[in-house]
Amino acid sequence: EGKVTVPGIIQAKKEGRKLVMVTAYDYPFGLMADEAGVDMALVGDSLGMVVLGLDSTVPVTMEMMIHHIQAVVRGCKRAMVIGDMPFMSYNTGIRDAVINAGRLMKEGGCDAVKLEGGVDFAPVVEAIVKAGIPVQGHVGLTPQTASALGGFKMQGKDAAAARKIVEDASALETAGAFSIVAEAVPAPLGALLAESVAVPVIGIGAGVGVDGQVLVTHDMVGLFDRFVPKFVKQYTKVRPTIIDAIKAYGQEVRAGSFPAPEHSFGMPDEALAALKA
Ligand code: KIV
Ligand code: NA
Repeated sequence: EGKVTVPGIIQAKKEGRKLVMVTAYDYPFGLMADEAGVDMALVGDSLGMVVLGLDSTVPVTMEMMIHHIQAVVRGCKRAMVIGDMPFMSYNTGIRDAVINAGRLMKEGGCDAVKLEGGVDFAPVVEAIVKAGIPVQGHVGLTPQTASALGGFKMQGKDAAAARKIVEDASALETAGAFSIVAEAVPAPLGALLAESVAVPVIGIGAGVGVDGQVLVTHDMVGLFDRFVPKFVKQYTKVRPTIIDAIKAYGQEVRAGSFPAPEHSFGMPDEALAALKA
């Protein structure tokens, strides 16, 4: 079976097939996500936090995104690669947004882009889609505007706030988004969102009643644990494994037991004799 396509993603919802998405930021993780059979690999701007050590996604640039998208694309043969549009690459007008979405696709090589926002960004989504670039929406908690939202907290708590998020999703669908990420919303609202649009709703902290799930891989495998949001399940904890390996190497280097003969290159006896003569 070939590359995952936009029609294939939309069809999955019609067939009741749950979609699987994870983040990837480099070639080895692109390869692993692809080999694990995910439908979509998201080069999220979360890379700013989990691989670059920034405090938020706000400082992430187009150049950072393109650099990481290129690496993931090289690793994904089957999975659809989605590139996140960084903060201020689509917020300053439709023309900027189309140009920057085009750069992610042309220079980065991704199959689709994702951007945060609902009703207010529907015209932007529509223009990018019309330019021939598939767009995934992102509603609920939108980390790029966490400052305006009052922090990294659950969205859609009361009826009015929840209704606004349903309107956001609906506007994105009308604008032509092929799927919509819903982040940190009550599970019943997640289910309502999935019911109210025909395109797949991909949840992260949106309960099980949506059409698919996404997690930040570095959270899910325990590679990044400075903080672990409630909605993250750690399927493994690779961080201690890696630290232990580096420690063991350090001990062997300091003890002179690494490298052993099998990790060392030999030299013909006569060459060595001539060298020493
Ligand atoms: O940047 C990211 O990883 C994301 C996902 C959490 C959806 O936007
Ligand atoms: Na993101």
